[in-house]
Amino acid sequence: METITHHIFLIGFMGTGKSTISAELKEMLHRECLEMDQMIVESQKMPISEIFEKYGENHFRDIETQTLIGLKDHEPAIVSCGGGIVVRQENISHMKESGKIVLLTATPQTIYERIKDSTDRPVLNGHMNVEYIRELMEKRREKYEAAADLIVATDDRSIEEICREIIEGV
Ligand code: S3P
Repeated sequence: METITHHIFLIGFMGTGKSTISAELKEMLHRECLEMDQMIVESQKMPISEIFEKYGENHFRDIETQTLIGLKDHEPAIVSCGGGIVVRQENISHMKESGKIVLLTATPQTIYERIKDSTDRPVLNGHMNVEYIRELMEKRREKYEAAADLIVATDDRSIEEICREIIEGV
């Protein structure tokens, strides 16, 4: 595939590499890369953790859904979603209407190593440990897997290899 005619949505738990992979896909496919969390930070003019703190997770999820709906008329792009995008079933339908969904996976240990120093992951506030990551991931696993058109593992693999698998698979 040289280019894309629909969005490619990258979903997956925090730390599965959605931002890194979408930045590389952008170069390989010559398409725009849209970072949903970044779009929300810009539209709300505050960090994600502050939105959670001031208005609660539900409010953040409302903004997340509105941002997703707003992408429907956007030209085909690589969309890097927040890790909780599958929490709302309607988000999955919105994504299916305008693109393909690629699930990135990694083990809880790998994820912990990648994000342990992060300060803007409010759902892990006070729980930044492998066990809690495993628990939350298990709670979401079914939703992630049911949503995915393609599942790509990211542990111990190069960015290039992961991107090739995505480009060939969507
Ligand atoms: C969340 C993941 C975050 C961000 C928000 C909620 C989640 O995105 O959207 O903190 O519920 O898993 P990343 O997956 O990019 O860290």
